Amino acid sequence: MPEPSPSPDARGKFLLPVVGLLVLALLVGAGATMWLGGSLADGPAVGGSFSLLDGDGKRVTDRDLRGKYALVYFGYTFCPDVCPTTLNQVSEALDRLGTKAGQVRPVFITIDPARDTPAVMKQYVSAFTPRLLPLTGSDAEIADVARKFRVYYAPHRTGDQPGDYTMDHSSVLYLMGPEGKFLAPLRADAPARELAENLSKQLK
Ligand code: NI
Repeated sequence: MPEPSPSPDARGKFLLPVVGLLVLALLVGAGATMWLGGSLADGPAVGGSFSLLDGDGKRVTDRDLRGKYALVYFGYTFCPDVCPTTLNQVSEALDRLGTKAGQVRPVFITIDPARDTPAVMKQYVSAFTPRLLPLTGSDAEIADVARKFRVYYAPHRTGDQPGDYTMDHSSVLYLMGPEGKFLAPLRADAPARELAENLSKQLK
């Protein structure tokens, strides 16, 4: 007679839950890793590819901005207060950065392309700093880039004429790395000195 082996039933009752837990732990671990890897591989949650027009009507894409940090702001030239104030702070902050400012390209993207043609944009940014790159495009191109940067904007009627409107819009400075990856949001309402300090910390 063969020796009696431990009852397979008893062993199964002990092992199955343990094996089950191990498999579950492995699946959860693998899932979390895949999820993290996937979201990183999908690219930045803020920013992405775009193709817009500069002040001369020339095409500029996100790839053209590579190699330098980009400080991106969305607004419009008819903005009565927030946009001009922000752009003033940006140009003053860059002045304060001294030679480091050469690493940063400030970019102003309109969310009012109907009025902000390349020529209007070019004229407008020249009042702030020659470093500032103005970008506009079709309604669809602007909607696309705004969505990628999570920018909110909407027209606000002020009268009966077609041009009687202002634009509500979110106001954030987006610092993008030299590879085009989103690095940090910077407060658009910060004084120039604070903005310069925040910027300086981010630059290599
Ligand atoms: Ni504005």
